Amino acid sequence: MPADALTLESPDGQLQLKFAVVDGKPQYALDRNGKPVVLPSKMGFTLEWRDDLAHAFVLKDRQFSTFDETWEPVWGEEARIRNYYNELLVTLEQPVGSVESMDHSTEKRPTIMQIRFRLYDDGLGFRYEFPDKIDNGKLKMENSANADHNSQLSILHSQFNALVCFWIKEELTEFAMAGDHTAWWIPGDLDTQEYNYTESRLSEIPALWEAGHKDGGWPWTAFSKTGVQTALQMRTDDGLFLNIHEAATLDFPTMHLDLIDNGKLIMDNSTDANNTSSTPDNSQFSILNSPFTFRAWLCPDATGYKGRIQAPCVTPWRTIMVCEKATDVLASRLILNLNDPCVLEDVSWIHPVKYMGVWWEMISGKSTWNYTNDFPSVKLGQTDYVHATPNGTHGANNANVRRYIDFAAANGFDGLLIEGWNIGWEDWYGKQKEFVFDFLTPYPDFDLPALNKYAHEKGIRLIMHHESSASTVNYERWMEQAYTLMNQYGYDAVKGGYVGTIIPFGEGHYSQPINNHYHYAIVEAAKHHIMVNSHEAVRPTGLCRTWPNMIGNESAMGTEFRERIKPGHTTILPFTRLQGGPMDYTPGIFEPDMGKIVTWGKKMHHTICNQLGLYVTFYSPLQMAADFPEHYEPYMDAFQFIKDVAVDWDTSVYLMAEPGDYIVTARHPKISSLNKAAEGVGTLADGKKGVISNATRFVYAIPDTVETCHGASLQNPHDVWYVGGITDENAREVTVKLDFLKPGVKYEATIYADAKDASGLPDNSEFRIQNSELKYNPYAYTITKKVVSSKSELKLRMAPCGGFAVSIRSL
Ligand code: NOJ
Ligand code: CA
Repeated sequence: MPADALTLESPDGQLQLKFAVVDGKPQYALDRNGKPVVLPSKMGFTLEWRDDLAHAFVLKDRQFSTFDETWEPVWGEEARIRNYYNELLVTLEQPVGSVESMDHSTEKRPTIMQIRFRLYDDGLGFRYEFPDKIDNGKLKMENSANADHNSQLSILHSQFNALVCFWIKEELTEFAMAGDHTAWWIPGDLDTQEYNYTESRLSEIPALWEAGHKDGGWPWTAFSKTGVQTALQMRTDDGLFLNIHEAATLDFPTMHLDLIDNGKLIMDNSTDANNTSSTPDNSQFSILNSPFTFRAWLCPDATGYKGRIQAPCVTPWRTIMVCEKATDVLASRLILNLNDPCVLEDVSWIHPVKYMGVWWEMISGKSTWNYTNDFPSVKLGQTDYVHATPNGTHGANNANVRRYIDFAAANGFDGLLIEGWNIGWEDWYGKQKEFVFDFLTPYPDFDLPALNKYAHEKGIRLIMHHESSASTVNYERWMEQAYTLMNQYGYDAVKGGYVGTIIPFGEGHYSQPINNHYHYAIVEAAKHHIMVNSHEAVRPTGLCRTWPNMIGNESAMGTEFRERIKPGHTTILPFTRLQGGPMDYTPGIFEPDMGKIVTWGKKMHHTICNQLGLYVTFYSPLQMAADFPEHYEPYMDAFQFIKDVAVDWDTSVYLMAEPGDYIVTARHPKISSLNKAAEGVGTLADGKKGVISNATRFVYAIPDTVETCHGASLQNPHDVWYVGGITDENAREVTVKLDFLKPGVKYEATIYADAKDASGLPDNSEFRIQNSELKYNPYAYTITKKVVSSKSELKLRMAPCGGFAVSIRSL
């Protein structure tokens, strides 16, 4: 960077952001203690109908500031989050006449683009801002008596931006990495994030990309054979942990990254037929200071554009996390901090949810979403379901749902998801039907009012399911009625889904219009006091800080992929997918041998204790116990951990971690949100209030006889901690120091650990270690109790694909 580059330091002085305009081109670089993290990298955009936003700039203004606040999330990994950064806002101008535009606006007005940098101790965020005007006059009159006069003056002295409504062809932001780092990546894709991760050097991405792309979800739409998705986790040879992602993606396409392969331009090997933008000129646009340079790759809309923008507006933040230790990445709140504070005034109806579901039955093949096999083709409104022959395999039938309600209620859960309750599942998949569901009409064997009443009497709320089959137009058409129906019967949470080819046709899952659809669903749901958990939607970017009714997302390969999930997958997700917000991973599979359910079933790679460990290592305010009641019944002593564990925390301690290898985490529950579901948030349709879910009883081990769990827990709560550990295909022994416990207090630890002969690796697994003698035995665990204190250490062994869980209660 030139010697006169502007420099911004992080509050602790370790990170330095440099910014300069060189020959009219904006550039940034990021150093840590003087060593480059990101080499000088290009910034800007190419636009339709006018010169690009990448040259002819002059630096008009710079403003440095500092911000420090502590805020309290509605739910989260900790009760209080510090948001402390130094900021630099630069105002750049393409002077009148310096660039050309089809509408001649640049002949009359300057083009104004601002870049706002926020530098934290754990990383950088920057975004582009497009004001509609800048105030050139310094005539700021503070005197409110002259307010009218003042506003006239400010209009006189402002200059309007030549940019008003404009269309983005490419974002040119580059991330020139300073070395051939190790990376954990999934292939870039316009339609799915449901991939296993590949661990490789950056230089190996081109060679490994094809293999990485083979086993994804459906549909898949590649754009480049060097494209990867964010959050991209990297480790330098010096042991620094770098992570590129984005924050607050609203009214904008999702950003993927394209590795500029050997200096060749990203579009050279494009496989995206939709992209109509012209091939950018390498010599003009790429700085290529490093052979390991990523360029931002925005997901195009159906017409090929990558954002239709109206000033004033801002882009999402581009983020580069820089941490010394892997555990610091897990502790980072960079993405949340870069999002706006909560916009909902009343959040009393938002609460953590532990749930079960009539769901795994369909995923495993035991039962079906559809009610009948009579119709290969369904037309809603015409197809006669009343006289259809039941297929006998429909999972969402009254008796089966009651069975799940009974089990969930007896074990202290808050909710029960039921999929396949509504008509249309006979031909929902892969047919590109626009009118696929109405989200209102139950199948003949699903008595919606009666089942809700039954559930509410037992302290369970049913969780609604809205699979849109990716027909966003159809979902928007029915949304208001569908949410109203939920209010009528007392559902306060919905699981959404976007399986298939997006309708309107030509859109991908992460383009600007479709990202706007997901957001619309969240905003409309909030008006109805409904919490949302969307599957196949865009991967989150921390918007749950602003809209905390977004309690979950899938947006990654989750448990439904069964045996296709590779060992170590769940040790990577907290570094990548979970950086943007919680994931509905749906853990808790106690019968991982799917061949015991259906003949074609295969063995999943995990032990029972690995599944228990996930409830602590994976943060989500929405946690499922995904398996069948009959798969838990033989192991109720191990299931006790799932009953006990909390899902909302005031403190989280990341004890040890290495992406792809292992994670060990300890967490302390947040008392104030426990049992919120139990407080009767809102009056249920049948008039019943004060639903008791028993969460507090389980978390704090208060005896069954205590009537008002919540009150009792406040009077005399035990001090409670949970510790979880997970590992990849390698068995490990770890020593966990309990120094996070209160000194001088005696606790009882209940330790759920893999037995000596446990192994989650199927005998024919390609991941088996050569000399491994252990046979596949996912069911073998031990449960031991021990009195411990803050001075104790626990030695815990994890089997291949195993894990452990520990509940710790003060005596
Ligand atoms: C895919 C989702 O991820 C899964 O959880 C759901 O059961 C199916 N779609 C059907 O909606
Ligand atoms: Ca899915």
